[in-house]
Amino acid sequence: VLTAELLRYDGDTLALRRAFAQYPSGVVALIAEVDGAPTPLVASSFTVGVSANPPLVSVAIQHSSTSWPAIRGADRIGVSVFAHDQAGLARQLSVPDRERRLQGVDLQGSGSSARYLDGAAMWFETSLHDEVRAGDHTIALLEVRALREFEARLPLIFHNSTFTTLRD
Ligand SMILES: Cc1cc2nc3c(=O)[nH]c(=O)nc-3n(C[C@H](O)[C@H](O)[C@H](O)COP(=O)(O)O)c2cc1C
Repeated sequence: VLTAELLRYDGDTLALRRAFAQYPSGVVALIAEVDGAPTPLVASSFTVGVSANPPLVSVAIQHSSTSWPAIRGADRIGVSVFAHDQAGLARQLSVPDRERRLQGVDLQGSGSSARYLDGAAMWFETSLHDEVRAGDHTIALLEVRALREFEARLPLIFHNSTFTTLRD
């Protein structure tokens, strides 16, 4: 075995963030209608395949999130996987001013509190299954109740803190 050199983690959060950012992911918008207002939350920590039976996906949410306390109370939460050409929309849905996030954005629904983005790569209708405290985040386990795939639309990728797309 050759000697491998690793950077010992000493609380340098910048180095940790850089390393975490190097791991590519998709980006989703959780959207639920709460008290008559659609409420979005953009997340790149979304993970599928957590469990097949029951069908679970997960998302890690900062304890400081002001939208999650509202969204978590919804009976159904819509998950839209951003498509490759929706980077601008992902930016808009995460601006600090919550009033501006959905301005001019077309949403779809199907009889529940879940809302979906037009032009997304995938939709999941979910219900909150469980929440697990994990350090400064809460891992929300969401049960998949319905789904829709748009095969022609490739997903948006979040990598090195910027939006990019899949290449061959
Ligand atoms: C690309 C991207 C990915 C994000 N991923 C997450 C995430 O996984 N978890 C999270 O809690 N917030 C994430 N955020 C931040 C939230 O979208 C949001 O800005 C933050 O929760 C503060 O808004 P709120 O108070 O309305 O919740 C992400 C933002 C961007 C732009």
